[in-house]
Amino acid sequence: MIRVWDPLVRAFHWSLALSFAIAWLSAEGWEDLHDWVGYAAGALVLARVAWGFLGAPYARFAQFVCSPRTVIAYLKAIATASEARFVGHNPAGGAMIVALLIAMAATATTGWMLTLDAFWGSSWAQKLHSLVAHSLLLLVLAHLAGVALASLRHRENLVRAMIFGDKRAPEAGDVALSQEAGPSGS
Ligand code: HEM
Ligand code: HEM
Repeated sequence: MIRVWDPLVRAFHWSLALSFAIAWLSAEGWEDLHDWVGYAAGALVLARVAWGFLGAPYARFAQFVCSPRTVIAYLKAIATASEARFVGHNPAGGAMIVALLIAMAATATTGWMLTLDAFWGSSWAQKLHSLVAHSLLLLVLAHLAGVALASLRHRENLVRAMIFGDKRAPEAGDVALSQEAGPSGS
């Protein structure tokens, strides 16, 4: 086993998932709680973005954000059950992470807008917040499906890895950072 997810990534992940769940459940009728967990989600995204540039090698965006071409090629490989196992995030997972972070930031921002005088009682601003929040929910569901699929295909428990930080060491054909590799993964 090797250490892949550092403590900050793991703490970030489960705090974000919890904030999202509480924000969703408190949306109707628990306004104060809803606002605070929504702000917490926004702050977590900001911290993760900074960590994506400064953090441990597997946490860096340069390590898992790929071009659309690479993402599409990986999705095609999934369709033919020939995709490589990645020790870090795979290209499709990397694209999903970017989408989740952007959608979470957009949800928190449009929620905050509802507290401003400028948007007080504005029905389009409420609709916008509702729309981005529901889009985020769809992304979260797709994220869970992706995690389940990758766990089955590569016979590893990715949820456990996101809790404890360790994953199976790379085997022939797997994609991993070498011990000496820099954060760019080169
Ligand atoms: C509910 C809202 C959730 C959000 C917004 C979310 C978001 C994210 C993000 C941003 C990452 C990237 C982690 C990083 O590098 O910092 C990630 C990874 C991951 N998430 Fe979630 N997540 C959510 C829920 C869950 C749940 C409920 C599970 C499991 C039951 C889960 C399992 C995972 C796993 C296993 C990874 C690592 C994927 C990999 O191995 O590449 N997530 N998630
Ligand atoms: C990022 C996490 C957040 C999520 C997942 C989220 C989700 C939601 C959802 C699902 C609704 C119900 C929308 C509907 O009626 O269809 C809602 C409503 C609302 N949210 Fe959020 N929200 C978040 C962040 C925030 C923040 C940061 C604020 C403000 C500080 C906020 C303020 C509000 C308000 C005032 C409403 C009621 C709008 C209305 O009157 O219809 N939200 N939110």
